[in-house]
Amino acid sequence: MYASEIVAVGMAVPDRIVTNDDLSKLMDTNDEWITQRSGIRERRWVDAQTTTSDLALRAAERAIAAAGIKKEDIELIVMATLSPDHDFPGTGCFLQAKLGLAGCATLDIRQACSGFLYGLSVADQFIKTGMYKTVLLVGAEVHSKGLDVSTRGRDVAVLFGDGAGAAILKRTDATNSSRVLSTHLHAEGAHAQELWLPGPGMNLGAERVSRAMLDEGLIYPKMNGKKVFAHAIRRMAEVLMEGLAANNTKLEDIDLFLFHQANLRINEMLAQELKIPPEKVFNTIHKYGNTTAATIPIGMSEAVAAGKLKKGMLVASAAFGSGFTWASALYRW
Ligand code: COA
Repeated sequence: MYASEIVAVGMAVPDRIVTNDDLSKLMDTNDEWITQRSGIRERRWVDAQTTTSDLALRAAERAIAAAGIKKEDIELIVMATLSPDHDFPGTGCFLQAKLGLAGCATLDIRQACSGFLYGLSVADQFIKTGMYKTVLLVGAEVHSKGLDVSTRGRDVAVLFGDGAGAAILKRTDATNSSRVLSTHLHAEGAHAQELWLPGPGMNLGAERVSRAMLDEGLIYPKMNGKKVFAHAIRRMAEVLMEGLAANNTKLEDIDLFLFHQANLRINEMLAQELKIPPEKVFNTIHKYGNTTAATIPIGMSEAVAAGKLKKGMLVASAAFGSGFTWASALYRW
């Protein structure tokens, strides 16, 4: 019987820091509004030349080096992103070429903020069945090029940032204590339009992209913030408890919680509701904003670097996002 172990992680963020005050020069917003409602103080934005696969490459190279593997050992690249280099082919293909690899399988995951945990589940299944021994899992986003940074888009634009995180998963014996214990995935497509990108798209009339679509701002993300907020807390709590129940584990047994970083208030309310001590929750949102598929691997990387995530620790992750989708994972580091 096989299991998968997360043997190493890596992250990459652009050098350019964009503070809340910087945003207030582009749109009608202010540091107090953003900080009070989201906990975000700054985020990173790429330059014009950098794309999602570039950030993914940097994170992947760091994870590969930290794992001490040869890049040729990678048999599958799972790439989670909602901000692809191009509509097709998948960003995993561009990443593969930039890594100088050819022949291994690539698979893109489009489950937005739940993308990394969906990808972790996919990687875990391929390893458990014996099909692959080594998988590169990446979550990467370039949001800054796709946001409406005028006052019209301020409710969304202030929340998101660019970044990437990567993990190397390797086959291990199912008796190894360091392993992915379980993953739990859900979706409810009836809420797809509560947080989405309407255009360009095939569902908007005769043309996939039109002048009218640009004028109406349909190429920018739209969000029903209050609905997303309420569903996020409920679903993350549910799916976290589902993971604990599946492993006969109690909340007190978890050493560290690495939640998706959408809004500090969501994570604080979740912790309060479940009576999780705040020191067990590792947050990075104040520095990077919501980097969607990248928040959890960035959290892993920063927690390792800060000495907060150590070998043998029992970790729980949960995420919620567009779809709606939500997911959790329990793993021993
Ligand atoms: N700066 C200043 N004012 C802003 C603003 C900004 N960036 N964005 C919106 N506003 C204004 C609105 O226009 C509205 O003004 P009005 O009352 O005059 O119409 C007002 O602020 C809304 O404020 P409030 O009711 O306090 O908003 P909120 O408590 O719902 O907070 C969010 C807004 C977006 C921070 C919150 O809903 C949220 O975090 N939702 C979840 C978002 C999320 O996690 N998305 C990703 C999921 S993976």
